[in-house]
Amino acid sequence: MSIQSENIVEFTPSQEVSFPNVEITRIGLAIQELAQDLEGRYYELQKIMHITAQVNAGMYLEEILESVYRDFKDFIPYDRIGFSLFEDGGNVIRAHWAKAEYEPLRLGRGYSARIEGSTLEMIIQSGQPRIINDLEAYAKQKPESKSTRLVLEEGIRSSLTCPLIANGTPIGFMFFSSREPNTYAHAHIEIFQHIASQLAIMVEKGKLITKLATQKEELLTKNNELERLNNLKNSFLGVAAHDLRNPISNIKLAVSLMMDQRFDIPEDEQQMMFTEITNQTHYMLSLLDELLDISHIESGKFSLDLEPIELSDFLTDVVQRHNRLASAKGTSIHLDPVPAGSALADPMRLQQIMDNLVSNAVKYSPEQSNIFVHTVKAEDEWRVSVQDEGPGLTQSDQQRLFKDFARLSAKPTGGEKSTGLGLAITKRVIEAHGGQIGVESTPGSGATFWFTLKRA
Ligand SMILES: Nc1ncnc2c1ncn2[C@@H]1O[C@H](COP(=O)(O)OP(=O)(O)OP(=O)(O)O)[C@@H](O)[C@H]1O
Ligand SMILES: [Mg+2]
Repeated sequence: MSIQSENIVEFTPSQEVSFPNVEITRIGLAIQELAQDLEGRYYELQKIMHITAQVNAGMYLEEILESVYRDFKDFIPYDRIGFSLFEDGGNVIRAHWAKAEYEPLRLGRGYSARIEGSTLEMIIQSGQPRIINDLEAYAKQKPESKSTRLVLEEGIRSSLTCPLIANGTPIGFMFFSSREPNTYAHAHIEIFQHIASQLAIMVEKGKLITKLATQKEELLTKNNELERLNNLKNSFLGVAAHDLRNPISNIKLAVSLMMDQRFDIPEDEQQMMFTEITNQTHYMLSLLDELLDISHIESGKFSLDLEPIELSDFLTDVVQRHNRLASAKGTSIHLDPVPAGSALADPMRLQQIMDNLVSNAVKYSPEQSNIFVHTVKAEDEWRVSVQDEGPGLTQSDQQRLFKDFARLSAKPTGGEKSTGLGLAITKRVIEAHGGQIGVESTPGSGATFWFTLKRA
């Protein structure tokens, strides 16, 4: 677009007005200075607009603070920025975020202090930022200030503390700190104040969004947990329906036969029927116990009565008891020498762990086999293992082994019952003790189940 000539007013200095040369030079210099100042201000304004845009674009508090850390550097010198928010209705201030050019931070995230009586209280009351340009001298005047001591230990020598006020309500502070004394001047306060209120509002926004995100995360976790419990409950119902139905029908049948006057059942047959009823009842009770045990553990009502347990005596007892039960199969259980010392465990629960592992070894091994119980005392834990000569476990069996209702390839060799819950419970109980459980096996050549317990 061409410039219209009528818009141009030509400037011809009048002959009558004449400035002395010195005066012209003075005005020229002043204009030059003004132009430079304006240029500087313009640059500053642009930067501040950039910061505001960045801060506005940030969604989460961390993002907003990161951009503040990056963008303020051109205007306010600092080696560290700290950012604290009020808690407990404004009675406590807690460090929420801090970033520095150096490590480690002595006054980091989570540090909290009471507001009452502190110098921060005065800053809030006045609403004005505060400059301390000689922190060492300040610390001598206020030896009680722990936060001053901590930042001094970090090497900080001067600080600018700015209140953050969102919609008239103080929400916290922004701390700019430098390792050089005499870093801060009033000009820095002015710069901060250009965007202070907007920053405070953005911080509030970021805080809310961050809180919402955490709440969403918590709800999702809760939801997953509820879904898992619901699935577990459904499998319980399935198992109860399936595994309790058969024994109940068998018992019902046996009882009605025995009560029917038309049949004259011989005494030895009656005896067999009673034994069957007793076995079935026993199985149902143990299944119900296992189901109850899992729901008990899952509902979080499970607690342990930990005490030191001398393992040598304890394991001798377990092995003796199981040897009596296993003699029907001709199976022998051997206890390798147990080192002296105690483990920290709940005796009832440790019994349950050993019963599950040893009874599995007996249940899934062929007749006349050997089982070895071996104990190792390491520096801070015990490792107990139960080794058998049974069919062992394939890789895919091993992956499902500790899941609820895992009835795998190996089947009981002496007609014993199997619900697939024993190891799932054992694992939960061992983990509640702070221990671990695992298995080593080559299919076809036995399995070794091991678990760890803390030393007493
Ligand atoms: N020592 C073992 N050797 C080979 N397979 C095993 C051994 N121990 C367990 N298993 C396999 O793992 C499955 C799960 O064992 P778990 O002890 O959890 O349940 P279960 O013995 O079937 O029933 P429950 O212990 O509840 O009476 C078993 O069904 C079996 O197939
Ligand atoms: Mg079992």
